Amino acid sequence: MIRVCVFPESTSAPSRRRCYRVVGAQIVFVTIAPMSISELRRRRTFAVISHPDAGKTTLTEKLLLFSGAIQIAGTVKGRKSNRYATSDWMEIEKQRGISVASSVMQFEYGDAVINLLDTPGHEDFSEDTYRVLTAVDAAVMVIDGANGVEAQTLKLLEVCRSRKTPIVTFINKLDREVREPLDLLDEIERHLGVAAVPFTWPIGMGKDFQGVYDIQRDQVRVFRAGQDTLGGAVETLQAIGHDDGERRFGYAWTKAKDEVELITGATPTFDRDEFLAGQQSPVLFGSAINNFGVKEILDALVDLAPPPSMRMTVQRPVQPDEPKFTGVVFKVQANMDLAHRDRVAFIRVCSGRFERGMALKVTRSNKTFRANNVVTFLSQRRETVSEAYAGDIIGIPNHGTLSLGDTLTEGEDLQFVGLPFFAPEIFQTVEVVDPMRAKQLGEALKQLGEEGAIQVFKPVVGGLMILGAVGQLQFEVVAHRLSTEYKVDVRMMSARYKMSRWITCDDAGELRRFLDAYSARIAMDASNAPTYLASHISEIEVAQKAWPKIVFNELRERSGAPFTKAI
Ligand code: G4P
Repeated sequence: MIRVCVFPESTSAPSRRRCYRVVGAQIVFVTIAPMSISELRRRRTFAVISHPDAGKTTLTEKLLLFSGAIQIAGTVKGRKSNRYATSDWMEIEKQRGISVASSVMQFEYGDAVINLLDTPGHEDFSEDTYRVLTAVDAAVMVIDGANGVEAQTLKLLEVCRSRKTPIVTFINKLDREVREPLDLLDEIERHLGVAAVPFTWPIGMGKDFQGVYDIQRDQVRVFRAGQDTLGGAVETLQAIGHDDGERRFGYAWTKAKDEVELITGATPTFDRDEFLAGQQSPVLFGSAINNFGVKEILDALVDLAPPPSMRMTVQRPVQPDEPKFTGVVFKVQANMDLAHRDRVAFIRVCSGRFERGMALKVTRSNKTFRANNVVTFLSQRRETVSEAYAGDIIGIPNHGTLSLGDTLTEGEDLQFVGLPFFAPEIFQTVEVVDPMRAKQLGEALKQLGEEGAIQVFKPVVGGLMILGAVGQLQFEVVAHRLSTEYKVDVRMMSARYKMSRWITCDDAGELRRFLDAYSARIAMDASNAPTYLASHISEIEVAQKAWPKIVFNELRERSGAPFTKAI
């Protein structure tokens, strides 16, 4: 009989020897890491990003289907299916067919625990996307093979690059006539500034799309149009010779082989460190709608993407394997589910282990609460979480205790950095239609401001509240939500301001003098940070010249953390 001894990784050699003496000679030693470390290593937390319509939602859905997390296509987004339990929570999305809110989904794939964060595709909601990207350790960038690199892809990639987020690239829609793969690679390299390293190569495209050649494994995965390969295995051909390939796939094979030969000489070999530094991106080709290439993405993420790593706070770096729990609120979504009528703070666990019922301190407010009601998300379903580890995303329903950027700890005073607010680019005044609802408007705007759905400014000398947004659609969403969720109808009008800057100064007296001198232009934002409003950049330049000690910030960090240029 063979006995198996399982040790924690930290077990000393003498203890192992003692065990050996006790159980006798025929034993197999297996060492295991401490629970939290092995849990940590299993975690992969990533976002799918793309220009609208490239196939992000389709791919997300297929990833979930593939992992068994959902059973029915159409669960992620309604579209033509009427069975939707949408991950796009808001009614307006269904009307417009765009993703406004970001959602979070957790599922297991093999040994890995995957946290997948969905992001709004529309550029008007890019602030939300940027914040979601601060919570992930990797990203999958979906590119529409027919359109190549598009404007929104560029912007998102810039954010990923500045954060050194590793990226796996998926070139989608090979079942259609797309651009030449070589051109696409070239475009990725030129526009996105990362070295593209193809892991697979398409054999044909459009009607002639026959599969992909897996460069590293020297095998072909055969594509069958219209056949969802979820249940069954994709036909895989090992190391086929040139003649066999040509017989089976015709000219498409010869072309693919020639191209692979060309790129093998011209592209660098894959280097995981460069990938982890965001300098190289593995490229995979496929067709999300046909579920072709989806498994390869999951495999690439599990094999290559990093488990959770160090995160910076104002005070010190926090390592994910530290025993004590820390987390940061990267998103707040109010009234996600009208039946619950609450506000959910999405928290990225940064270290330690979360346990239901533990006492958590909000370092901003210095208040402690018991986390009894904590949820995780699968599409729209909420499930109670009893434990979570670094890399996981948990949701805490609350009534205003938690704001964007808040740090939660077991007691230590820490403040995670890097969660950005951008100076708005469009401003509108907002006025309640029924004056009897003015109080409700104030409360609703406070909540929407804290949630980050829009930026809310209260002029210090009185007057109408001013809303600031990065994109026009944000106003429409806010007006819609005010009306449906808060029963407040409003009139919005273009404001005379065109830009704003958050005002800071090391010298408190000078700051006071500036705020007094410009009181007619100062408004307080949702977290009571003073903002200077201007109609033209020249006004800011003039004020800056006159007040050299005052800093006019385009970017703001939450909760008192210093202003950074993290993004
Ligand atoms: P997004 O989230 O990035 O905005 O894109 P989404 O997944 O909604 O996909 C945009 C359109 O592209 C959808 O078509 C979708 O079916 C299609 N699509 C996604 N992946 C593939 C693919 O691999 N091949 C092909 N041929 N099409 C793909 P739609 O007409 O806008 O919606 P629907 O009518 O199909 O629901």
